Amino acid sequence: MFRGFVRPLFQIFTTNIKGGINLVNYDAPLSMYFYGSPYTDPADPIVAATYAMIAAESLGLGTCMIGSVHPLIQSGSKARKFRELHGIKFASREGVFVLFGYPAVKYNKGLTRTFASVHTP
Ligand SMILES: Cc1cc2nc3c(=O)[nH]c(=O)nc-3n(C[C@H](O)[C@H](O)[C@H](O)COP(=O)(O)O)c2cc1C
Repeated sequence: MFRGFVRPLFQIFTTNIKGGINLVNYDAPLSMYFYGSPYTDPADPIVAATYAMIAAESLGLGTCMIGSVHPLIQSGSKARKFRELHGIKFASREGVFVLFGYPAVKYNKGLTRTFASVHTP
């Protein structure tokens, strides 16, 4: 996974950012970080993020989960500095960013997902 996904991802992030293209948070006007405290269940931030997305979508906004940043701000001195700078109180096992913005496209119908474990009669 590291060789096939994480490394190429960083390559794509850094190359594009040098060219002025931000593929980390897409220059979204609002980014919210959902994370846990030492007392929360790891699922808690994910549940909260999902509700925030539904709330925003119901207001006509667009949302996008960003999973690539959370792992990078958990350990090490740079991660701690980042957390301090942004008032993030804890490192946490699970966490996710959600981007919010004005949607560039309008959907006419929902996407049909192919969840492996969903069986239709
Ligand atoms: C948990 C999770 C993490 C994600 N992380 C990223 C990410 O770091 N960067 C990214 O460009 N898209 C990420 N995505 C994909 C987008 O949030 C979004 O799901 C994708 O663009 C497909 O859009 P759709 O769900 O409306 O079809 C993530 C999706 C999920 C569910």
